[in-house]
Amino acid sequence: MYENLYGQLQVLERKDAPLSQEERLRAANRPLLYWYGKYARKLPWRENKDPYRIWISEIMLQQTRVEAVKPYFQRFLKEFPDIPSLAAAEEDRLLKLWEGLGYYSRARNLQKCAKVLTEDYGGRMPADYKELLKLPGIGSYTAGAIASIAFSIPVPAVDGNVLRVVSRFTENREDMTKPAEKKKIEVLLTETMDRESPGDFNQALIEVGAIVCVPNGEPKCMVCPLASLCLVRRDNLWQEIPFKPPKRKRRMEQRTVFVVERKGKIAVRKRPPKGLLASLYELPNVEGKISEDRVSQVLEVQNDEILHMEVLPEAKHIFSHVEWDMTGYLVRLSETKKEDEKAWKDWIFVEKDELKGQYPLPNAFQAYRKFIK
Ligand code: ADE
Repeated sequence: MYENLYGQLQVLERKDAPLSQEERLRAANRPLLYWYGKYARKLPWRENKDPYRIWISEIMLQQTRVEAVKPYFQRFLKEFPDIPSLAAAEEDRLLKLWEGLGYYSRARNLQKCAKVLTEDYGGRMPADYKELLKLPGIGSYTAGAIASIAFSIPVPAVDGNVLRVVSRFTENREDMTKPAEKKKIEVLLTETMDRESPGDFNQALIEVGAIVCVPNGEPKCMVCPLASLCLVRRDNLWQEIPFKPPKRKRRMEQRTVFVVERKGKIAVRKRPPKGLLASLYELPNVEGKISEDRVSQVLEVQNDEILHMEVLPEAKHIFSHVEWDMTGYLVRLSETKKEDEKAWKDWIFVEKDELKGQYPLPNAFQAYRKFIK
């Protein structure tokens, strides 16, 4: 073992006696922890080991970048500092605090879980991997992260970052999107991971995946604590591994979005409690690409009730399984159009300020939000 120019411990492998997969992973523990101790980023959720904070941060960090999560994490903890306050939260308020993070079922599951913890676990996170796994919204990754970081239990926390690092390190060509392959990595890490500092070990692997063995583009092997033992680095195969299965096509959906203004207020409506963007507020919209001359018909207003109409730029929003290709119209209605008429029954006209403070409007409508002036 030696320290290289970049201050990393590196393990030398003898060419005549290559390491087995388990030996290779065990040999990674020390350099990894040494590197993490020196270079770990200072992040708000790393200030202490409060299981509640670890839990919230790990849920927010799923599918979302660290820099994007930081302000959300701080705001969320200020308003909901513990499990009971989260369990008692108003759903609209909770979703408002989540606005922009996406994947809103994460927020709803957080609250569901907080309620279960309050009712069945004395308001505390159980210090037990198997118990954690039983909770709503907590899968093997999150259970592993909470158990190891908050309670020092030696279980792995395998997310996409870790799968990429480990598959490269061991030159594993399997399809890591398959649950069975992920399970194999979990078993392997359970056997080989550092048992003294499992929380730091897991975070170190995640950290290497986030800032060294990056998801897009060339890995920064020069500064990697695992470089001397990494098989993909030896064979220059980072473009092949991890194996990427062909992408499934997203369903394309044309939608027409309306920014409807009346007496300075904006029309929004609440989405159904199930499905895409469940229970969030949205700008009124319909399926299909509506042409200008059909707008009044679709909105069920008379032409003379429209004071002003403007075509807005097209926009696109990509969800995990659907893509919205949107057309938009700004429609200013005259006051003669009454709010309580039939066509308006699921619309609420809200003040522009309320849209900022009270109604969670998902990012999908971001492109049209700026026309609310
Ligand atoms: N991504 C997922 N979990 C993380 C953590 N604990 N620190 C930094 N990035 C992460």
